[in-house]
Amino acid sequence: MLSKTMTDALNKHINAEIYSAYLYMAMSAQASFSGFPGMANWFAIQTKEELAHTEKLYAYVNSQGQHVVLEAIEQPQTKFTGPLDMFETTLSHEQTVTGLINKLADLAVEEKDHATQIILQWFISEQVEEEENARDILDRIKLAGNEGQGLFMIDKELSTRVFVPPAA
Ligand code: FEO
Repeated sequence: MLSKTMTDALNKHINAEIYSAYLYMAMSAQASFSGFPGMANWFAIQTKEELAHTEKLYAYVNSQGQHVVLEAIEQPQTKFTGPLDMFETTLSHEQTVTGLINKLADLAVEEKDHATQIILQWFISEQVEEEENARDILDRIKLAGNEGQGLFMIDKELSTRVFVPPAA
């Protein structure tokens, strides 16, 4: 059984995950518009991942017999100056989300809510991966510079990313 405080906090985080999907969709649109189809693909897959995170929390709140309350989604940043800007924004956004997840985990510990602690463990591990992926690509973009052959190769590689649904 979730407390009202925990339910409200999880509902707020459902909104944060949907916002993440929206932000990456905006980056996918920018990448397409700017002629980086591989990056557009990478961000489109990232959008799907964020929706999967949303669904995971949504299902959890439902399974605890609580009411999922959906709120308005804030407009994301829609213009980016290039791949460097997009991946810097991605890494910093993921670091922000990690902070939000850690606060949720702190609350679950405070409330002695063991079930929520277990589901949040998944999100804590996922954030390590999310930050690592963004950092790896960002490092390579920094090496390549904002244009040229190196960037073309990175874009080509990012076109191969496919969506793998998270384990139940
Ligand atoms: Fe849902 Fe990118 O964290």
